[in-house]
Amino acid sequence: MVMILLVFILVSRVSAFNYITCPKCGNFEVPYPFSTDDNCGDLRYKVSCNNGNLEFPSAEGFHYKILSINPTTQKLIIRPPMILEDTCYSSDFPQGGLRLDERSPFNISTHNTVLLLNCTAALLRSPLNCSFNSFCRQFENEKEEGSGCKSSLCCHYLKDSSMTSHFIRVRPGGCTAYTSVVDIKPEDPIDQWNYGIELQWLPPN
Ligand SMILES: *[C@@H]1O[C@H](CO)[C@@H](O)[C@H](O)[C@H]1NC(C)=O
Ligand SMILES: *[C@@H]1O[C@H](CO)[C@@H](O)[C@H](O)[C@H]1NC(C)=O
Ligand SMILES: *[C@@H]1O[C@H](CO)[C@@H](O)[C@H](O)[C@H]1NC(C)=O
Repeated sequence: MVMILLVFILVSRVSAFNYITCPKCGNFEVPYPFSTDDNCGDLRYKVSCNNGNLEFPSAEGFHYKILSINPTTQKLIIRPPMILEDTCYSSDFPQGGLRLDERSPFNISTHNTVLLLNCTAALLRSPLNCSFNSFCRQFENEKEEGSGCKSSLCCHYLKDSSMTSHFIRVRPGGCTAYTSVVDIKPEDPIDQWNYGIELQWLPPN
């Protein structure tokens, strides 16, 4: 009887150790498998908690604020980088944009419409929508944040499965800024756009 009890305690200890959920970050629940430190979560799902903000690190070490996490659908939405005031540079331009490690369990979902700003003519040869009625024009004309990008070429595309799901790239000779909208619908007015980059993750095993 004592043996059985002992084994039971041991087993429950071990499994409890494997599934420690991290404490809240500010008001934000940190669902398993996300890990804010070495003692909780699964280390392959590392995020950081800075002053009550939960942040997602890219492969280059740039931190994106996490806006929401849906553990049921295994998706999270991060905030697109700021566009530096009076310029047309994304704050992650020095890192070349958003890059996820290809071995990580995360990738960029197919629900994102990416607006690329201040692009060179090289982009016209791509299958992107760079027309005068592209969503990127609305963003430049109606949002303060995009106003520094006016009077240059811009394009948008749906991040679908035909493209890399680990990269949103900005670079000299390409485009220097971007933003992203989740589940954009052509009939939606611009003030209802849901700015964000939706990522999805593979569950541990
Ligand atoms: C747009 O990009 C070019 C490089 O392709 C850069 O020289 C220029 O400063 C950028 N424009 C703005 C407004 O940031
Ligand atoms: C570009 O996008 C706009 C806005 O969704 C759309 O009205 C237009 O038909 C698209 N143009 C092309 C060439 O796909
Ligand atoms: C992205 O991840 C999801 C699961 O998290 C997977 O089903 C999908 O195939 C992945 N897409 C690519 C292009 O790797």
